[in-house]
Amino acid sequence: MAKARTIHYCAACGYESPKWLGQCPACQAWNSFAEHKETPASGHRASAGSKTGGDRPRRLSDVGTDEAVRWATGSAELDRVLGGGLVRGSLTLLGGDPGIGKSTLALQMAAFLGDRKVWYVSGEESASQIRQRAERLGIDAANVWVTPQTEVTALAALLEAEPPDLLLIDSIQTVYRGDLEPLPGSVTQIRESAAVFQRLAKQRGITTVLIGHVTKDGDLAGPRVLEHMVDTVVQFDGDGRTYRLLRSLKNRFGASGEIGVFRMETDGLKDVSQPSDVFLADYDGSVSGTALSVVLEGTRPIVIEVQALVVPATYGTPQRTATGYDAARVRMLLAVLEQRVKLAYANRDVFVNVAGGLKTTDTALDLAVCMALASAWLDRPLPAGRVFVGEVGLGGEIRAVPLLERRLAEAARAGYHDGSTPASDRIKDLPALVRSSFPT
Ligand code: TYD
Ligand code: MG
Repeated sequence: MAKARTIHYCAACGYESPKWLGQCPACQAWNSFAEHKETPASGHRASAGSKTGGDRPRRLSDVGTDEAVRWATGSAELDRVLGGGLVRGSLTLLGGDPGIGKSTLALQMAAFLGDRKVWYVSGEESASQIRQRAERLGIDAANVWVTPQTEVTALAALLEAEPPDLLLIDSIQTVYRGDLEPLPGSVTQIRESAAVFQRLAKQRGITTVLIGHVTKDGDLAGPRVLEHMVDTVVQFDGDGRTYRLLRSLKNRFGASGEIGVFRMETDGLKDVSQPSDVFLADYDGSVSGTALSVVLEGTRPIVIEVQALVVPATYGTPQRTATGYDAARVRMLLAVLEQRVKLAYANRDVFVNVAGGLKTTDTALDLAVCMALASAWLDRPLPAGRVFVGEVGLGGEIRAVPLLERRLAEAARAGYHDGSTPASDRIKDLPALVRSSFPT
């Protein structure tokens, strides 16, 4: 029998090393190394598929493409995030803060797939709690089978004997392998357990969703290594107070960065098919420091409101706070406003907020951020209902952004027909736009 081997790997990025390291050479994280004793039988590398003959090479041209069959999930928003439905035989990681709605979404989807057999493995709740949730959601879920078994090797044997169509693991942090030492939830346990589900998904064609909690830093708890193992990563974003935003961070079968928007009601998660309308629900164009824009999240244009507040700095270094947009980018835009438009923010505290809890990296928001900041500084409202779309350069120039027409079409659908963009205005720079927006 081969000897057990000890490996060390980084809990943050999955980098492997034969010896323990204080700092990870791959991702620079400190104190992130965990030890793992690899027995010959453990892990995915050992003997995956050798008994079934599934590892024999096949001619690529003989491989069918029918393997990418998609199932509608019953939610157009979830389908969109997954790239058009759940791909049969795929392995998906569903992440998010506790209480955001992961279990609810999983159970709603399971019930919708009425004629498919679903296994719900719950280490978080008892079978009767799951039943109560199903009743609350108004679903009978007769196709859903629950098991409290959370030991992965035993579970794998059950799954091999009676493979379901869909397997839900709620959560990956509460399942464990009895043959490994560390406690459930440790990096080793998460990684080795996920490896077993990965093998089952690929060899048995069991469509699998692993549910995982995220840490304070917003990473999927335990290892980001899971992100490499799965086909698709979808994660609930934000605080979830008003809306639930689900985003694809990785998608082997579609575009990443797509978002879906939901509302949690007393009987479950409901699709929000026109997010612009909900993000603008409280927009009041008569207030200074607020500007509209259209950002592109994945392929979807969404009209949002940027709010800025500029107040005299109370003491010390003035504060610059940004929520929903990159703070370094906001500092850059402040410098552009100072230098090119001659608005002085040096002795003021500045707050920028994207209303509705959306976080975006779309630089088309630059122009609206600048206009909101200018409006706040001047304490004069912008022309009501005007939409600002454009990237702002260091010279104060306004730059074109992708898919402008789609963005403006969505703004018009939401009732805002007046767009300020480089194309529509022939206004090419920020100083000119500020002058024309706030005539003296
Ligand atoms: P849950 O799916 O349990 O979250 P997670 O699995 O991510 O921890 O949902 C959590 C919250 O949603 C919980 O606080 C109760 C609330 N909720 C509703 O408001 N309506 C519903 O129909 C359900 C099932 C839950
Ligand atoms: Mg849950």
